[in-house]
Amino acid sequence: MADRRDFMGMALGAFTGLGALGALYAAKRTWDPLPSVKASGTTVVDVSSAEENVLYTELWRGKPIFLLKVPKNAKPAEAPNGRAENAYNDKRLITINGAKYFMAIGLCTHLGCIPTYLSDKYLFLCPCHGGQFNAAGEVLKAPPPSPLVIPPFKVEGTKLVIGVEGEEYKKMKAAGLVA
Ligand code: FES
Repeated sequence: MADRRDFMGMALGAFTGLGALGALYAAKRTWDPLPSVKASGTTVVDVSSAEENVLYTELWRGKPIFLLKVPKNAKPAEAPNGRAENAYNDKRLITINGAKYFMAIGLCTHLGCIPTYLSDKYLFLCPCHGGQFNAAGEVLKAPPPSPLVIPPFKVEGTKLVIGVEGEEYKKMKAAGLVA
């Protein structure tokens, strides 16, 4: 009987251990950064392994860079007042390999706090004064005075080169969409 109890205890321990390992593996996948290379003022990020609706944070010239693969079925974030004009401006998204990405400096344009991404609502919430941005970085709720800033970038295959003005960036800039 004692042997049987020992066996049951060991089996339960192994099962619990496996469960914990599984949870750790899932968490690690979320923490894993995308493959990136930093050199002479640029950060090159390969987005091919990016998962939808997971916020990745890279570093460019000492600043956090948000990178989000926008889910295909994403709906415009709903601000508390539910205004129709809160719909995404698709033109602030970057198309890479047929998928849409949002990329911006991850600092709130109010006083520079780092917003948190609420994946279930597709919006960024700034913890300092409650400002909100949609998944294209546009202001949903004051006090931020302007959208999250899109830094210079260019697209090379599945790579995003941050810090260089490519054609897509120049088009956004000409349309007044990068800040
Ligand atoms: Fe973000 Fe004030 S710093 S709302």
